[in-house]
Amino acid sequence: MITNTALEYKGDLYPSNIVSYTLEGDSVYFNTDNNVILKVTVLRDSLIRFRFTTKGYFSNDFSYAIDKTQLHGYNFLSITEEADYYQIVTSKIKCVIQKADMRKSIYDLAGNVLLEDELGFHWEESFEFGGNIVKMSKSSKDGECFYGLGDKATQMNLKGKRLENFATDQYAYQKDQEPLYKVVPFYIGLQNKQAYGIFFDNTFRTFFDFCHERRNVTSFWAEGGEMNYYFFYGPQMQDVVATYTDLTGKPELPPLWALGYHQCKWSYFPEHNVKEVTAKFRALKIPCDAIYLDIDYMDGFRCFTWNKEYFPDPKRMVAELGQDGFKTVVIIDPGIKVDKEYSIYKEALEKDYFCKRADGPYMKGKVWPGECNFPDYTNPEVREWWAGLFKELVADIGVKGVWNDMNEPAVMEVPNKTFPNDVRHDYDGNPCSHRKAHNIYGTQMARATYHGVKRFAYPKRPFVITRSAYAGAQRYTSSWTGDNVASWEHLWIANIQVQRMSISGMGFTGSDIGGFAEQPTGELYARWIQLGVFHPFCRTHSSGDHGDQEPWAFDEEVIDITRKFVNLRYQLLPYLYTIFYQYIEEGIPMLKPLVYFDQADIQTHYRNDEFVFGNQILVCPILEPNALGRRMYVPKGEWYNYWTNSRVKGGKEMWVDTHYDEIPVFVKAGAIIPKYPVQQYVGELEFDELTLDLYYKEGKEKSVVYEDAQDGYDYKKGRYSFLTFRLTGKTKELNVQLHKEGKYDTAYSKYKINLIGLPFKVTTIEIDNEKITFDSAALEKNSYLVVNKEFNILHLVGE
Ligand code: NOJ
Repeated sequence: MITNTALEYKGDLYPSNIVSYTLEGDSVYFNTDNNVILKVTVLRDSLIRFRFTTKGYFSNDFSYAIDKTQLHGYNFLSITEEADYYQIVTSKIKCVIQKADMRKSIYDLAGNVLLEDELGFHWEESFEFGGNIVKMSKSSKDGECFYGLGDKATQMNLKGKRLENFATDQYAYQKDQEPLYKVVPFYIGLQNKQAYGIFFDNTFRTFFDFCHERRNVTSFWAEGGEMNYYFFYGPQMQDVVATYTDLTGKPELPPLWALGYHQCKWSYFPEHNVKEVTAKFRALKIPCDAIYLDIDYMDGFRCFTWNKEYFPDPKRMVAELGQDGFKTVVIIDPGIKVDKEYSIYKEALEKDYFCKRADGPYMKGKVWPGECNFPDYTNPEVREWWAGLFKELVADIGVKGVWNDMNEPAVMEVPNKTFPNDVRHDYDGNPCSHRKAHNIYGTQMARATYHGVKRFAYPKRPFVITRSAYAGAQRYTSSWTGDNVASWEHLWIANIQVQRMSISGMGFTGSDIGGFAEQPTGELYARWIQLGVFHPFCRTHSSGDHGDQEPWAFDEEVIDITRKFVNLRYQLLPYLYTIFYQYIEEGIPMLKPLVYFDQADIQTHYRNDEFVFGNQILVCPILEPNALGRRMYVPKGEWYNYWTNSRVKGGKEMWVDTHYDEIPVFVKAGAIIPKYPVQQYVGELEFDELTLDLYYKEGKEKSVVYEDAQDGYDYKKGRYSFLTFRLTGKTKELNVQLHKEGKYDTAYSKYKINLIGLPFKVTTIEIDNEKITFDSAALEKNSYLVVNKEFNILHLVGE
């Protein structure tokens, strides 16, 4: 065990003076007297990689996080040598490296400091394991704020915190508990209204200290591996997050049903119990698209088997559920039961696919089935084998999604809850110990699962969800926040975690609605579902040992609230799908913490609860019992209260009244929000009208709507529809221009436009410059217009 986890230690070593430098393509190598090499690579004008070695040479450059398909290139690059320093300049930033001690400073082109080394790179030799404990420290100014780092269950702004990244099965974790399930060593710094980002791409156990140990110092370090990090310049947080997401990769679109509501419990079995649950959703008219089978569907917890007593004919059951609109998602864990009669175990053993201890024996550990061995998913051949195992589940039985759990990896009945450090991994041809592979084990399992499900679901899209993840896992999988608790504090945590994951590149995330451990009151469940429908992944799950957690486990009022909010989610599916598309195309987070939404407004820097769902809907959960409303900060601009349509001017904290069946939701003035009719599951209804809720504004606002076939890959060939609505409101006029892109023809033929907040009485309507006759009394009464979807310009004039 490494006992010294503090940043500074008397045995620390430092680079000496730079004695030479060489230029190779986009990279500059700086060499010191004492064998340190710093490689600086300019990937884009605002993205620079810093990589250090203390050995005098670099080992193989390999990363699981970086998306190899991302594009590089810059507009300008100059490297100059001055008496005391080197200077690298791009069209966005300037980086100065001191000859005397290799310390670096990064500036914008106006000369403002963005980030400056304090001690800079230093290290400590790891006598126990070999290699170094690599460390980096930066100076931090008083007003600086910090965000990101994945699933941390603490305040949005990380200033003053020390955090640890080591994927951990943290059952019933608490606020501020560290470490958790995910490892995303990426943070955003915001100082002087300028944002920058750091991604420390190191899979060993890492630590980040944001002015916790010392007031004006930020630092990060790892228990091994290289000091290897990327610097992103904003100045907008949007730019930092988009570039980070581009670097570590974006997912493909999920099938639209995956954005519906999901129902889960540990466990629904036998078959009639599953069917009772699904039937009840339909009877109560609460929309639901997916039903989950937890570990009890298996035969003695053996992955890829079925308990035939509970599920005598899985193929028939899955098909029947499918006819009723339910997609079946099943759990698959990494632990493979040690059992000579079990074909998967036998095959993995024969092919030598299990992880081994340093001295040779297989890594053995207890999980649900008892003693298990664990596939080494860091071996490409093992991943290929694993992918192939999904044929029966997906192609033959018809399962539509796979849920990967316990992949931190979790091991029971051992103090460290995971593999010992000495376990060996292939690491894609870069053999290493578990110290290095631990944090990416779960991602490599999800990756193999994703390839398998994708292969056998084709031509449909796969759906995979994982508990553990490292940066870049978003390319393969969605995620949930693990074993939370049915408490009000955990509702607060869920809100923070999902926002934080969103700005950490891993947006397709949700929490166990209602809480996994313990039993929520009806009120807590209601408040949780009211938040959960605004999370990209929306699933109720519970451990099942404290009572039921289906909506009908609570009283009529809670059932009604659940229905009302799940209905709202289904209405907003085209809106959610559009923001998902913007996420995968442009790296824009689906949920925007207020600071991301308006970083120039310092009021947003310490906010936790309010967030913007997509671009135009502001949401703030109710996080306390018996609330009749709450105080919240409404960001600058004009907003409409979603429930009352009354207008508010933001830029201030205010009290918002709500009923039990409401939480504060505001729509940005000028927005055009697309809505589908309520369906019990995606694709249930054919409809001829897309509803557009238009919120009048004096001024301009752009809204977009993305649609496609809702599944399959035709969208990649241009078969999608992308609508851009440009709204311009004047005192007595409203103009909407529509621009269409893409080759997909939506099934509906009309828009039903709800005119909200129109401050005038419409006297003239022109469509594509032609006046149309209309029933002005009806328009006034109903406030909506039905327009053929082919229009280009809609012009309303009033008095
Ligand atoms: C732990 C997971 O976090 C939980 O969601 C699941 O229900 C149990 N394992 C049982 O599989």
